[in-house]
Formats: sequence, C-alpha cells, structure tokens
Amino acid sequence: MNVIIVDDYESLSHAGADWLVEAINAKPDATIVVATGNTPMGVYHELARRYSHGLIDTSRLHAFQLDAYIGLAPDDQRSLFGWMHRSFIEPLDIAETNVVRLVGDAPDPWDACRIYEIAVREAGGFDISILGLGPNGHLGFNEPPSLPDSPTRVIPLTPESIASNARYWGGEEQVPPQALTCGMDLLLAARRTLLLVSGAHKYQILHRAMEGPQTPDVPASYLQSAPNVTVLADRAAWHGLETQSR
Ligand code: F6R
Repeated sequence: MNVIIVDDYESLSHAGADWLVEAINAKPDATIVVATGNTPMGVYHELARRYSHGLIDTSRLHAFQLDAYIGLAPDDQRSLFGWMHRSFIEPLDIAETNVVRLVGDAPDPWDACRIYEIAVREAGGFDISILGLGPNGHLGFNEPPSLPDSPTRVIPLTPESIASNARYWGGEEQVPPQALTCGMDLLLAARRTLLLVSGAHKYQILHRAMEGPQTPDVPASYLQSAPNVTVLADRAAWHGLETQSR
C-alpha cells in the first residue's frame, strides 16, 4: 500500500482531488465506485472545483453506488444514493445513464444485488474505488466479519455502525437495521483504490487495517493484498490522540 500523510482535513481534500484528477485523466472512461460518509466530502468538493476549471472530462465516467440502506427511496434525503447524487454526480455532471444504483428499495433486495453485480462485471469491474474507513473496519457496509470473497449482499448493520450513523438519523432507533453493500470481492479487485481516513478517532482501526493480520474482523485489512491501494490519511488519523493534543 502506498501511504500519504497530510497535515489536516483540508490538505486531505486537496490531495484526494489531485489523486482523482490524475486517475480520471489516465482513464477518462473509468468506472468509479463512490463512497459517501463524511470523509470524502471535501475531496468531492475540491474535485468539482477542478472540474469547473476544466481539469477533467467527466462525460465518459461511470459511477457506481457503494452501499444503500434497505427501504429508502432514492429521493429520500437520507438515502446514500441521494447523498452520492448531491455530492458527486450533480457537481461533476455525470450522465444519469452512466450511474448505477444499488437499489435499496427494490421489492427483492437480493435480486437488486445480483443485478448490480452483473452491471459491475459487464462494465469490466471498477477502475477506481473511493472508500472511507468504518470505525469498525468496514468497507462500504461490509461489516465485520466479512471475508474477502464476500459478494454484494443484504447485511444487518452492527451496533457500532448503527451508533455511528445515528447522528444522521436523529437517534439509533431510527437507523435502518439492514443495508445492501457492494461486495468485498468487487472492491478488492478494483484496479486502483483510494482509502480516505481523517481524524484521531480512526487511529486504532487504521493501524489495525494496515499493519494487523488480515482478518474478517477488520474487513479493511484485506486491502493489504489488493492491487494499487493508496491510503490518504491526515496526521490526526495517522498519529492518533498524541497529535491532536499538540
Ligand atoms: C459510506 C460507506 C462507509 C463509510 C465509513 C466511514 O458510503 O460506505 O463505509 O465510508 O463508514 O464514514 P465516515 O467517512 O463518515 O467516517
């Protein structure tokens, strides 16, 4: 894994956008799987600025949703599709026909997973994967334990993920208990991965993911064996509380 440590969240947002500009210019028809969550928002904002300055052509990009809560319509403000749309698809003017949903409100969610997998495979897999690191080591909603060959599937959220997402929902009891996630198999096969990590609260899990044994208990640890992974972390995440108190 290639590790880049930057001073703070702002630098992470700039460096992440620069990484994506380079990756997109190297493959203007790239297939990209797009994380939501807080960490990548600064990167997407900076990427949109670079797009508005003409530094990338987005007309041939294909974007894939990474994960979805079960039961939420795409126009629900809390849906991860809506979040991806507002933060990535719209600012970059990605054509709607080039966007692949993971359909959390499908009548048969398992069927939605199979349809998504077929779409990813027909597109030739992911050229670029943009990921955040869950506080429990999840990637997408591949909650621990997740094996590296886990397919795209319906998954119950762990209490830890429910707790960490409660802030978006006005309480833990409001968080949908189940989600769909792009599988570990597809994520680990991505040709380039950018893992974005910010904040001292990610220190321990970041080091377990990068240096600990590869284990289903820390799904992100399998990135150690994936091709071409860049970990972009700020100093707070890399050094932990020690740095934060300076
Ligand atoms: C979001 C996602 C999650 C987040 C992770 C980190 O689509 O799949 O895996 O990337 O929970 O979230 P933040 O960035 O909010 O700390």
